[in-house]
Amino acid sequence: MSAQIIDGKALAKQLRVGFRQRVEQLKARGVAPGLAVILVGDNPASRVYVGNKIKACEECGVRSLHLGLAADVSQAEVLRTIEQLNQDDSIHGILIQLPLPPHIELARVLQAISVHKDVDGFHLYNVGALVSGNSIFPPCTPYGVQLLLDTTGIDVAGKNAVVVGASNIVGKPMGLMLLQREATVTICHAKTRDLAQHTILADILIVAAGKPGLIVPQMVKEGAIVIDVGINRLPDGRIVGDVCFDEVREKASWITPVPGGVGPMTVTMLIENTLRSAERAFK
Ligand code: GUN
Repeated sequence: MSAQIIDGKALAKQLRVGFRQRVEQLKARGVAPGLAVILVGDNPASRVYVGNKIKACEECGVRSLHLGLAADVSQAEVLRTIEQLNQDDSIHGILIQLPLPPHIELARVLQAISVHKDVDGFHLYNVGALVSGNSIFPPCTPYGVQLLLDTTGIDVAGKNAVVVGASNIVGKPMGLMLLQREATVTICHAKTRDLAQHTILADILIVAAGKPGLIVPQMVKEGAIVIDVGINRLPDGRIVGDVCFDEVREKASWITPVPGGVGPMTVTMLIENTLRSAERAFK
């Protein structure tokens, strides 16, 4: 069997067409949706990610405000910037690109963002909302994965879902979303003994470890759905995921490619959350 491809690029493109219509509807009611993106320092990878977010905003007609702060900016200045954006009615989403420099306390900064503008879903209130099953702003990457899973038409309820990677940004919220949909969830991480013993049982395998070549076919159940969240640049410049795509494809029923799988969906869900925030302004 050769798995069917879950085409994230195509789904993202289709969703963005709908976003443009929602933006027009908002504008007709006098609201121009706006997203503020804060970048502290000049981490090259973060610059690329921020650039992609700004580009996606432009494509969908969402106003973006890019705030670049120096790497040695004080925490107080970052908090002041966030507070100004919290008060600004023309801004519906605030995102602070991670990682932050070590002298800035991540928790303080995340908690300073208004819960109503926390389009990344990283504020403790939104984390709690996700835990209790009433998420307002689901974190963008797992939210995108959820929509990719939906395209397969497979009901997640009762399935064995194994998430590899336990980060706050992907692995943990992903596990919670799958649990909300009544999957039996296992979250594996760097200290998991015998990873293959868990992954081989997965009907749905989601890999977000940041390790190229981590998942080989012997670790995958025949007919599994495999979602690869990894984005790794190899020394030869190629971008690959965490899954040995060609080999695992022969065993899976559905698989996401890298690039063109989860990546385009992450930015797309950021726009979805921003629009949702702007639409909530009417309620
Ligand atoms: N850095 C890596 N992933 C993310 C993300 O989803 N949001 C933000 N703000 N920063 C990140």
